[in-house]
Amino acid sequence: MSLADKDRIFTNLYGYQDWGLKAAQTRGDWDDTKTLMARGQDAIIDEIKESGLRGRGGAGFPTGMKWSFMPKESKDGRPSFLVINADESEPGSCKDREIIRHDPHKLIEGALVAGYAMRARAAYIYIRGEFIREAETLFKAVAEAYDAGLLGKNAAGSGYDFDVFVHRGAGAYICGEETAMIESLEGKKGQPRLKPPFPAGAGLYGCPTTVNNVESIAVVPTILRRGASWFASFGRPNNAGTKLFQISGHVNRPCVVEEAMSIPFGELIEKHCGGIIGGRDNLLAVIPGGSSVPLVPADQIWDCPMDFDGLKEVGSGLGTAAAIVMDKSTDIVRAISRISYFYKHESCGQCTPCREGVGWMWRVMERLRTGDAHVEEIDMLHQVTKQVEGHTICALGDAAAWPIQGLIKHFRPEIERRIAEAGNIAEAAE
Ligand code: NAI
Ligand code: SF4
Repeated sequence: MSLADKDRIFTNLYGYQDWGLKAAQTRGDWDDTKTLMARGQDAIIDEIKESGLRGRGGAGFPTGMKWSFMPKESKDGRPSFLVINADESEPGSCKDREIIRHDPHKLIEGALVAGYAMRARAAYIYIRGEFIREAETLFKAVAEAYDAGLLGKNAAGSGYDFDVFVHRGAGAYICGEETAMIESLEGKKGQPRLKPPFPAGAGLYGCPTTVNNVESIAVVPTILRRGASWFASFGRPNNAGTKLFQISGHVNRPCVVEEAMSIPFGELIEKHCGGIIGGRDNLLAVIPGGSSVPLVPADQIWDCPMDFDGLKEVGSGLGTAAAIVMDKSTDIVRAISRISYFYKHESCGQCTPCREGVGWMWRVMERLRTGDAHVEEIDMLHQVTKQVEGHTICALGDAAAWPIQGLIKHFRPEIERRIAEAGNIAEAAE
């Protein structure tokens, strides 16, 4: 089932209307927020649990469950915090950017309601440093909300005091990892912490903290207004809701679009992107969830439901739902090698398998790209990816390993062909 216009949460996704407070209110944002909050903290968390909302930042952790890890009573007078991850840096991902550009009040209202539900005193929105115009919009939108009494003391007339701070990042991909983000907010170098403890136990300034993605927070007020069962009616069990998909690469019309979760990949592309450039037969492979998940070859992706379980079944993942589409003109080994370079560049360097392994993997990938390698090195590279995967402090190590594993699994003959060709040229030259 695909999504009807009346069921879209992000009604100003393309910026056809003004993003400002008055226009947002005519679209239904900030409509009697205090009544939403009056349902009570536990009732809000239960409704979000029932809706089936799973984190939209990539990992898909159940949002209501995450909120329920926050303490109900303050220990030693310590406050609790909500941190909103707007450090969107995953290659291919560009949905949070659109929300902040065109629908910032959905995010700010969501911050208040979610923050209240988890008993947080303030939200910190950590926005990617390169999002200069978006940060300006966000600062203005937050100021509008304060001026209208929607934030601050007795926020939205709810009797609850709540502040929102916008904090700009400085360009490091790793600061999108939740504990690196917390370190960065504290003024330190953005390096991931060991987990556990999870942020709900010890987060920002050592206080209970929940880190949620922009989209996860921005959908909360609509879920509460329209009801958990409305949201859960899209997609399928364990994969509920509407979702912002981002499609880039070799399609006729790249776009960001809100659709029902579980829409088959082919339908998504035909309906919203005008199809694959050169037609369906010209599709080579897709990285369906941002660069941190393995690619899926053309024959396995077309009918695949775009959701957590569907993409898992074909050996990949939904990630941020950023589909990078590659047609047959793509040099697939070069594409994956470029992704390896990205991870090498962004590694924070604090754990050895990532610091040493990711750079090593990229150097071998470059030799495979040119064919300047021995066939046995393909297996050696695969073995090294397995030694990096699961042996690092944060998920960047896995993210660097998986695209290479996907390449070897699906395109080994192409790598072997290059090695053989380069060998033939070298032999002929002797
Ligand atoms: P994760 O699976 O470790 O954690 C997900 C969330 O659940 C975290 O907030 C974590 O604190 C919480 N959590 C997990 N287990 C828990 C437990 N036992 N108790 C309490 N809380 C628990 O994944 P992570 O490292 O947060 O995210 C990795 C994902 O991020 C990747 O799948 C990738 O797709 C995505 N990503 C997104 C980017 C973007 O620009 N949006 C950039 C880079 C990666
Ligand atoms: Fe840093 Fe990489 Fe270790 Fe993550 S896996 S903490 S990015 S060195």
